[in-house]
Amino acid sequence: MCGIVGILGTKPVANDLVDALRRLEYRGYDSAGVATLEHGHLERRRAQGKLRNLEQRLAKEPLQGHTGIGHTRWATHGRPTENNAHPHMSKGVSIVHNGIIENFAELRRTLSAKGHRFETDTDSEVIAHLIADAMHDGHDPVEATKMALGQLKGAFALAILFAGHDDLMIAARQGSPLAIGYGTGEMYLGSDAIALAPFTSDITYLEEGDWAVLTRAGATIYDAAGKKVKRARVRSSAGSMLIDKGNHKHYMAKEIFEQPEVISRTLANYIDFVESRVVLPDLGINPAHISQISISACGTAYYAGLVGRYWIERYARIPVEIDIASEFRYREPPLQKGGLSLFISQSGETADTLATLRYCKSQGQRIASIVNVKTSTIARESDVVLPTLAGPEIGVASTKAFTCQLSVMACLAIGLARARGAISPAEEQELVQALAEIPRHISHLLTNEAQYEALAHDLSKAKDVLYLGRGVSYPLALEGALKLKEISYIHAEGYAAGELKHGPIALIDENVPVIVVAPNDHLFEKTVSNMQEVAARGGKIILVSDTAADAAGCELMAHIAMPKGHAFTNPLTYAVPVQLLAYHTATFMGTDVDQPRNLAKSVTVE
Ligand code: G6P
Repeated sequence: MCGIVGILGTKPVANDLVDALRRLEYRGYDSAGVATLEHGHLERRRAQGKLRNLEQRLAKEPLQGHTGIGHTRWATHGRPTENNAHPHMSKGVSIVHNGIIENFAELRRTLSAKGHRFETDTDSEVIAHLIADAMHDGHDPVEATKMALGQLKGAFALAILFAGHDDLMIAARQGSPLAIGYGTGEMYLGSDAIALAPFTSDITYLEEGDWAVLTRAGATIYDAAGKKVKRARVRSSAGSMLIDKGNHKHYMAKEIFEQPEVISRTLANYIDFVESRVVLPDLGINPAHISQISISACGTAYYAGLVGRYWIERYARIPVEIDIASEFRYREPPLQKGGLSLFISQSGETADTLATLRYCKSQGQRIASIVNVKTSTIARESDVVLPTLAGPEIGVASTKAFTCQLSVMACLAIGLARARGAISPAEEQELVQALAEIPRHISHLLTNEAQYEALAHDLSKAKDVLYLGRGVSYPLALEGALKLKEISYIHAEGYAAGELKHGPIALIDENVPVIVVAPNDHLFEKTVSNMQEVAARGGKIILVSDTAADAAGCELMAHIAMPKGHAFTNPLTYAVPVQLLAYHTATFMGTDVDQPRNLAKSVTVE
């Protein structure tokens, strides 16, 4: 994680570095720092906490250099203090790093024995020392960096400056994304193109193992073997970079309210509404021959995958294997020949998901991904990309990306089902029409915020909250609990309603709100029994359902009335109340909704 940026400019760059870092805060916000080169001298400013602390520091102690690097940190090794903040320095070398150096302890021991003094608890500092050490032995910056890179194990994106070299910056990428931006007489570097949006849209994405030497005249790129290579220059679309909160207090609120629009846009990408048919991109594999689908993802994207499993198995009749990516990659499950592996990721950069993709590729699987960032590594390494058209998602807690992932999953399930003859054209029409109604249903749900504000008062007093769901509503119970704990810091657990009596029922008393996600589908009666069991133990139930409140047959703390929809599309609509419950509870409690403590939007480390 962490965000990095670099500028070879024609005027003082500190403010522009901070501006770029602001766009990278989604990658971490434990501390921030910048270093610039002023007449050959390296100067840095760092601050613990959010970027505004660094801004205040720079206002008091400005930097004048025209060449600079910057960093926003998500702490892995070493506490989030100012001392551990990047850029790190050693004898005229300054670096910013995103990733983890796995062999840092060993390198640090060797360098310490040679007399290097380490100032921080980070893994990253060792990189500056390694390069400085090689320069001390007489190597020039490029040669020294090349030698240091060869000794690093782990994941990194790096930007490096050298005292005495005002027109030089070296970049390297292994396992963490990095983009080079071209300006007029200026050059840029960033963890993503969004960071560079105010300066340029003329971008080159470094590939795995690449490293590059940047001067104001351009960039020379080398591959892992040290061979000079050409990488494409692409124009990144300005539209995807427009980011503001509109009239909303938080990005998360804005993103929740954008759902009708972005779901419509995403559905329109896969549906011919005139014919009421799903039109999938060519998967490069005949759906009739798919023996198995394996899905892996992390966090909210994993829950989208869980819903997808119900849909694909139920409608397309294809067995689905699904696991959290961090488990899948080390479990190394046997995968059937002729299988399709599907990866779901908003950012397209999640390290564990990417590692799983590479494992599945090595097993001869066809690789498909559902991603929101089309230029991401996961998208680029996939055989086929099924994009979500959610637009940039800034709030750390995923909302619109989740419902767009569900939208794509739903289309995929229908498309596969039809291609395999598992549903008739009439059934396809019925399912497509149900999907077409979703944006309208969600717009309607978004008109009733007052109910959530009222419930937030009660939920904010709880120490523990339980979410229950059955069948396709089970992943929503998991997602509801995740949303609440991420942004309100209230302990919450999602459970399959049928598992209630195997453990969580022991927690129930009058202080534990139980949120039951239970559309009136073929499983509703079963969930009613679970509600009775909760009510009998004094539990306070919030029922989210399209049934009448009295259908629960017990006293409710609240009933969130849902529109009547098709059983197939319920996960899309029921996602919204669980988002709103978490959002309003967190805002009532005054937490940092868009940047909750300890979390980051894009998890590019294991
Ligand atoms: C982080 C984010 C979550 C996200 C997960 C997976 O934990 O905070 O919102 O669901 O990563 O990220 P991805 O980009 O792969 O969807």
